[in-house]
Amino acid sequence: MIVLGIESSCDETGLALYDTEHGLLAHALHSQIAMHQEYGGVVPELASRDHIRRALPLLTEVLTQAKLDKHQIDAIAYTQGPGLAGALLVGASVACGLALALDKPVIGIHHLEGHLLSPLLASQPPQFPFIALLVSGGHTQLMRVDGVGQYKLLGETLDDAAGEAFDKSAKLLGLTYPGGPAISRLAEFGDPAAYKLPRPMLHSKDLNFSFSGLKTAVLTVVKNHNTDICEQDKANIARGFVDALVDVLVAKSMTALKEQGLKRLVIAGGVGANQQLRTALNAAAAKRRYQVFYPELEFCTDNGAMIAFAGAMRLQQNPALATREYGFNVRPR
Ligand code: KG4
Ligand code: ZN
Repeated sequence: MIVLGIESSCDETGLALYDTEHGLLAHALHSQIAMHQEYGGVVPELASRDHIRRALPLLTEVLTQAKLDKHQIDAIAYTQGPGLAGALLVGASVACGLALALDKPVIGIHHLEGHLLSPLLASQPPQFPFIALLVSGGHTQLMRVDGVGQYKLLGETLDDAAGEAFDKSAKLLGLTYPGGPAISRLAEFGDPAAYKLPRPMLHSKDLNFSFSGLKTAVLTVVKNHNTDICEQDKANIARGFVDALVDVLVAKSMTALKEQGLKRLVIAGGVGANQQLRTALNAAAAKRRYQVFYPELEFCTDNGAMIAFAGAMRLQQNPALATREYGFNVRPR
């Protein structure tokens, strides 16, 4: 079965073709980062318009890459939510329009399920069951994953998501959008002893997170500077921020593994691309003889491959999920 995946929940238009026999056949992505950069964040209306412009040329690109004709597609998976309503509607309508024209079924996919399963696209995928740490711009969750569709939420953020904390703190330091990569690059040059920022909920007895206090701590440090912050001091603040956030993510992930009696940890979502987080997780896991799995770097952030893959897994498990009812519905929340 060949599944076309369409991702358009935020600022990336991603299309991909996944074959249940031969794996990922092709994927293509257009990132809108440059377009939104001058506004300091994603402008939803601009995002929707750009998805419209990009979707069909990207379809041609993946079909060419895979040397396939569009009629060879067996089903179309699209991101149904969560995400920006207008942006989701573009992906859903392209998917359903195409499906109607080709007389193929569609399936709506939960964006987070796409992220959650993305490490399974790697050459050495983890086996079920595992703990997943899902760290994206909109979500921070710890899950127990026993199989496709068998997810148990163990803990989540009570306020800001990890990626959101990265982006907001980066903005406070005058860095460009998206802040995650920028603040972590800067942190490399920072002195870890200069700013000891709070580790919110590190010792709470649950697996929940809270990052808005950490962002406020960055704001307080920035405000306490009467003059412009020099580059070294910015790097020190960035380092204090990254160290605090990483400490909490690592500690809670280790607790989740211990509590659930599991040995495999899977990281998914944009923040999973963060090098400091990867280094700290690898060290903590090695000490306890746990294994950590990451998606390929290009599949950490939003992409079509994870949606094609999640669609294929869902349809393999339950073919009845494929529908020819094209009255689609998106679920932004
Ligand atoms: O998964 P994703 O592409 O989109 C959502 O579903 O939200 O994640 C985007 C988030 C942004 O907040 C971005 O700043 C963050 O992931 N991010 C990073 C890195 N790369 C992306 N955060 C820290 N370090 C990175 N290298
Ligand atoms: Zn995402």
